[in-house]
Amino acid sequence: MATIGGGSSYTPELVEGLIKRYHELPVGELWLVDIPEGKEKLEIVGALAKRMVEKAGVPIEIHLTLDRRRALEGADFVTTQFRVGGLEARAKDERIPLQYGVIGQETNGPGGLFKGLRTIPVILDIIRDMEELCPDAWLINFTNPDGMVTEAVLRYTKQEKVVGLCNVPIGMRMGVAKLLGVDADRVHIDFAGLNHMVFGLHVYLDGVRVTEKVIDLLAHPDRSGVTMKNIVDLGWEPDFLKGLKVLPCPYHRYYYQTDKMLAEELEAAKTKGTRAEVVQQLEKELFELYKDPNLAIKPPQLEQRGGAYYSDAACSLISSIYNDKRDIQPVNTRNNGAIASIPPESAVEVNCVITKDGPKPIAVGDLPVAVRGLVQQIKSFERVAAEAAVTDDYQTALVAMTINPLVPSDTIAKQMLDEMLEAHKEHLPQF
Ligand code: NAD
Ligand code: G6P
Ligand code: MN
Ligand code: MN
Repeated sequence: MATIGGGSSYTPELVEGLIKRYHELPVGELWLVDIPEGKEKLEIVGALAKRMVEKAGVPIEIHLTLDRRRALEGADFVTTQFRVGGLEARAKDERIPLQYGVIGQETNGPGGLFKGLRTIPVILDIIRDMEELCPDAWLINFTNPDGMVTEAVLRYTKQEKVVGLCNVPIGMRMGVAKLLGVDADRVHIDFAGLNHMVFGLHVYLDGVRVTEKVIDLLAHPDRSGVTMKNIVDLGWEPDFLKGLKVLPCPYHRYYYQTDKMLAEELEAAKTKGTRAEVVQQLEKELFELYKDPNLAIKPPQLEQRGGAYYSDAACSLISSIYNDKRDIQPVNTRNNGAIASIPPESAVEVNCVITKDGPKPIAVGDLPVAVRGLVQQIKSFERVAAEAAVTDDYQTALVAMTINPLVPSDTIAKQMLDEMLEAHKEHLPQF
């Protein structure tokens, strides 16, 4: 297994997931890959990973390298968790739109567009290496914007063995279980939509539909809703939620509560900092912990990151592919007609049966009319953005920026595009 962006603070969770499953997923070698700027992080996290497998007594060999090609050679599974330009670039994605009265967010709106423009060329490069060095390997991508990245891979490469993975569905399931006061393994949700734009169409407790009850609980004004650590929970308008009849994901707040979310972001930017700036501090603290030579487990403090549990979901996915488990997991994959209102060749996030030949999406038919249009619009945005990333075409990038529902006009889109291209030029030399 090769993990690109191995210096990530999430790596201990990945290693924990592999240790836990060693009996069914006997990974012989884990190659953690990073770039020179990430060398120090790679060494700290790599040393912790080595202590973890040693303490657990499992014979996974951990290799650390800055040579991606060496790591990819002969890999069966490649996971990607890198951040081009680091948290500094993310902070710009979050701050610049705010000056224009627009949501500044890692994966949504202008920030999501720019993270995609920086990331897609690197993913395509990795795939060129994979075609040569490990042509049969599966690519499991966590790198955001996951939906746009998966779309670009499916549309512009021959890599069919690709799955995009996110922790939002598992976070929603855990959140719903908490609302119901039951264990998460008793809860099942029919997920359908796009990455960070996914809806729970039906919720089941022990196989019985409880969607309406869950929506009532979620709509209760005294109750804190289901969210992720990186998204503030302002509560939903109860009548809106009851009328919608499906479960929104935490990221839908940026679309349905744009004014309140923007006010929150503006306030945070003045006081505690944007999410990237908060995470910079969190990360410092995490790496201080990781340096402790007596630490040989994933520290619970990692749960303060929005991505908690995603590496575990990744191990579970990899094991189901390896073991042909045919269990159901929500992942990003080619639609193939599962969601009627999205092109069959596009990437969607939907429940799938996970087989040795990859995810087989479960058909849901059409999405409810109230949410269908927004999902289609975001898919168009992702497609045009992916096209801009592969063609390096300014006008295409401007169209992507303008058609994003969080951007108010072509004029503001152009101003933001120009300012962000300038701010990120180091990581977008092609534009
Ligand atoms: P991070 O800033 O710690 O980056 C991880 C590593 O990537 C760093 O050590 C960095 O040096 C390295 N890196 C940067 N450019 C690289 C390149 N070209 N090749 C190889 N390595 C490179 O980031 P993080 O907070 O750990 O997040 C990593 C990625 O995973 C981000 O894109 C983030 O958005 C994504 N993420 C996704 C989910 C999900 O639900 N899919 C959850 C959490 C994080
Ligand atoms: C959520 C998303 C991830 C995202 C993360 C951000 O969990 O699913 O895709 O990367 O939050 O968390 P952070 O701690 O970096 O703000
Ligand atoms: Mn995600
Ligand atoms: Mn290019």
